[in-house]
Amino acid sequence: MSYAEKYKAYELGYNLKRLYWGMGYATEASKAMIQWAYKNLGAHDFFARHANENHASRNVIIKCGFQFDNYGKLEKYDGSEIFEASCYRLHIE
Ligand SMILES: CC(C)(COP(=O)(O)OP(=O)(O)OC[C@H]1O[C@@H](n2cnc3c(N)ncnc32)[C@H](O)[C@@H]1OP(=O)(O)O)[C@@H](O)C(=O)NCCC(=O)NCCS
Repeated sequence: MSYAEKYKAYELGYNLKRLYWGMGYATEASKAMIQWAYKNLGAHDFFARHANENHASRNVIIKCGFQFDNYGKLEKYDGSEIFEASCYRLHIE
């Protein structure tokens, strides 16, 4: 989780070793990170995105309470690939 000036929000991201997929870890950790940032950093606005075909990532984002915002792009960390993506926002008062 880091503050993204471009979105004026904290961007949520995750990447688990395949061995640990499907165990609820990303959802549990993401919810905890959001709560931590809210309490400790005073964060109220969050941003998240997933490649359109990445259903697991979409589920994590929805389970954390994000609402769809718009369509955009998502780049691999090394910039080697760009995906069509869905972007979401979460506001906590
Ligand atoms: C995306 C990722 C972090 C999800 O982590 P995870 O710990 O497996 O996710 P969870 O176990 O919390 O699952 C979240 C939900 O998605 C569902 N889900 C998991 N894999 C799925 C799949 N392949 N297709 C559809 N739904 C899936 C789970 O069942 C769960 O929903 P449920 O609670 O209703 O059953 C993990 O797959 C990953 O690291 N992938 C590679 C990197 C990546 O894609 N990062 C995200 C870039 S946007």
